[in-house]
Amino acid sequence: MKALTWQGKRSVSVEEVPDPVIQEPTDAIVRITSTAICGSDLHLYEVLGPYMHKGDVIGHEPMGIVEEVGSGVTNLRKGDRVVIPFNISCGSCYMCKMGLQSQCEVTQVKEKGSGAALFGYSELYGSVPGGQAEYLRVPHADYGPVKVGNELPDDRYLFLSDILPTAWQAVEYADVPAGGTLAVFGLGPVGQFASRIGVHRGFRVIGIDPVSERREMAARHGVETLDLSKTIGDELREMTGGRGPDAVVDAVGMEAHGSPVAGFAHQALGLLPDKLAQKAMETGGVDRLAALHASVDAVRRGGTLSLSGVYGGTASPMPLLTMFDKQLQVRMGQCNVRNWTDAILPLVEDDADPLGVMDLVTHRSGLDGAPALYEKFQKKEDGCIKVVLNPGA
Ligand SMILES: NC(=O)c1ccc[n+]([C@@H]2O[C@H](COP(=O)([O-])OP(=O)(O)OC[C@H]3O[C@@H](n4cnc5c(N)ncnc54)[C@H](O)[C@@H]3O)[C@@H](O)[C@H]2O)c1
Ligand SMILES: [Zn+2]
Ligand SMILES: [Zn+2]
Repeated sequence: MKALTWQGKRSVSVEEVPDPVIQEPTDAIVRITSTAICGSDLHLYEVLGPYMHKGDVIGHEPMGIVEEVGSGVTNLRKGDRVVIPFNISCGSCYMCKMGLQSQCEVTQVKEKGSGAALFGYSELYGSVPGGQAEYLRVPHADYGPVKVGNELPDDRYLFLSDILPTAWQAVEYADVPAGGTLAVFGLGPVGQFASRIGVHRGFRVIGIDPVSERREMAARHGVETLDLSKTIGDELREMTGGRGPDAVVDAVGMEAHGSPVAGFAHQALGLLPDKLAQKAMETGGVDRLAALHASVDAVRRGGTLSLSGVYGGTASPMPLLTMFDKQLQVRMGQCNVRNWTDAILPLVEDDADPLGVMDLVTHRSGLDGAPALYEKFQKKEDGCIKVVLNPGA
């Protein structure tokens, strides 16, 4: 089959790879009809390179049609239409039962000290072949896949694989009081949905992003928007009676704009051989923290910081004095996708499209177009906000 593979820093290519086969009784093989590129894939493309291997198949936002199931999969049949959550979880361990599927004790990548295995996400998360491919082997298919109807187009359901539940969890964790104000740093796909979910829940939502078409898209969904500036904290306080928003979602993560020192460190790491770069990241790695530090500054005293942007530094400096003095609550982590999908499903099937899932995708192509679209998405060229690939097309 054809699959999108990682080849090196900022280099991906479509290659012929072996078709996946059933390996365990709880596996399924899914023929992929739609598969999205995520902001998290951009971290693999850039700073997480030392954990990737040439030829690794990327991708963790897929959906498609079940082709084959193992003997232990009784909930699915050939022909079922399914969305595949990006975390691989068993559904029955201590963590899964608590709704912490991203910490599944059966699939945890213990040798790397990581949580649940993820599709297409480097050796840190188990080196599991990903879903930007014609076919995908889905482990724990007796639990993970979300079965959906046949009537509506793929775009209605596709984002249940990651960014919708991620945004949902971000807003849950933000713990905004009724009628309160939520600020969302970053209006990429995750920030788009987090801010729209906030609006849907009746909060006042202010979204911040340096890219104008991303602000315009959010504004179409009832979000007030601000450009990124050095005085963003003051601007947010001015808009909220001097206090600051009740909660802030950071939907930017470790590659934020405006972090010159760590930006330089990331460049330098990129020049080291993989093993040395891994060691450097594990002992002194720092993230680009502009969005996180701005969030700490902006949120009101006693407010909540909810991080959905991915961070990977082991020695990232944090303003603990301010965090302690302001009495902040902080919640973060990979999304527990399966914990939220049942609640979100009726919203994506609603004809009124309350979260605007049909207003996100800006670029689409077959697998062959993926390398060019990775570049476009990373550089935010040509109004690129969300890319969907259709391997069969
Ligand atoms: N926690 C999870 O389970 C989970 C799931 C999916 C994605 N993510 C992470 O969420 C983050 C966002 O993903 P995405 O797909 O929306 O990616 P994206 O890269 O398209 O979005 C990031 C946005 O942040 C903006 N930005 C950059 N620096 C900024 C700053 N200093 N202040 C405000 N905005 C700034 C960019 O212009 C961009 O629009 C990534 O870090 C991704 O890895 C986490
Ligand atoms: Zn993703
Ligand atoms: Zn589990």
